Amino acid sequence: MSNTHVVGPRRVRFSWENTPLHWVPGDPFTTHMINALHMLLPAGERWFVHVFKQALPYITDPGLKEQVKGFMGQEGTHAVAHQRVLEHMKEQGLDPTPYVENVEWIFEKMLGDTTLPPRAQRFWLMERVAMIAAIEHYTAVLGQWILNAHPLDEAGADAVMMDLLRWHGAEEVEHRSVAFDLFMHLDGSYGRRARTMALAGPAIIYLVKRGGGFLLENDPIVRGRLKPKWSYFFLRAHQGRAPTLRSLLLAMPQYAKPGFHPSQEGDLQQALDYIAISPAHAEFEAYRRST
Ligand SMILES: [Fe+2]
Ligand SMILES: [Fe+2]
Repeated sequence: MSNTHVVGPRRVRFSWENTPLHWVPGDPFTTHMINALHMLLPAGERWFVHVFKQALPYITDPGLKEQVKGFMGQEGTHAVAHQRVLEHMKEQGLDPTPYVENVEWIFEKMLGDTTLPPRAQRFWLMERVAMIAAIEHYTAVLGQWILNAHPLDEAGADAVMMDLLRWHGAEEVEHRSVAFDLFMHLDGSYGRRARTMALAGPAIIYLVKRGGGFLLENDPIVRGRLKPKWSYFFLRAHQGRAPTLRSLLLAMPQYAKPGFHPSQEGDLQQALDYIAISPAHAEFEAYRRST
């Protein structure tokens, strides 16, 4: 196991009362493209935990087992934090439920447990562990991106939302190696690694674009007048308000490089430095003392 930094969940709290519907002021497009992640992450991260729970009995390295448990704790906390944003969105007149139900179907049914003979069960588990490792490369790339996304601060993006995204992004950078190390420990087949990334990469880009489009269509202020066009996306990426499509596409061949390891990507120290100053921890402590 190459990652010696021990990961584990942290207690956080975010207060959404003052976060406006368009939390990037005057930019519903960027707001909703990033909001698409709030619709994908709760179901996706609950699924990570569900799958890794099944993988735990096969882990023979005690250190890795602890890392996987810490990873599960972090992902479970992330899912809850993003779920609260969905509730806030609903209170503001934008109901994400229809899209979230589609996403839940993907993770719970399409990628869920099926009744299979034992050998096929093991195959399906390895396939899903490899998918999670591939998705985790994207969450680490996006996590590092949001830590550096200063143009969003300059645009006046809501501080609580930026803290949620950066706290989560920092923990993604922090635990970037865990799913990959688990996959290499249990299977490590190069074909499976390349194949699952070839599926995961385009699926993530498609689901974010479609999710952002759904929110623009149902936004009570925009009311479908703004479409999820690629040209808008390219402009936001150029402004530094969204990651570039090039960086998202390049993540695939990068992951497929034979000598790749996630520890080569992202800045762990920067991530830990952000976690140390994230207001969400102080917010949790203040809340705990008041109750
Ligand atoms: Fe996460
Ligand atoms: Fe993660």
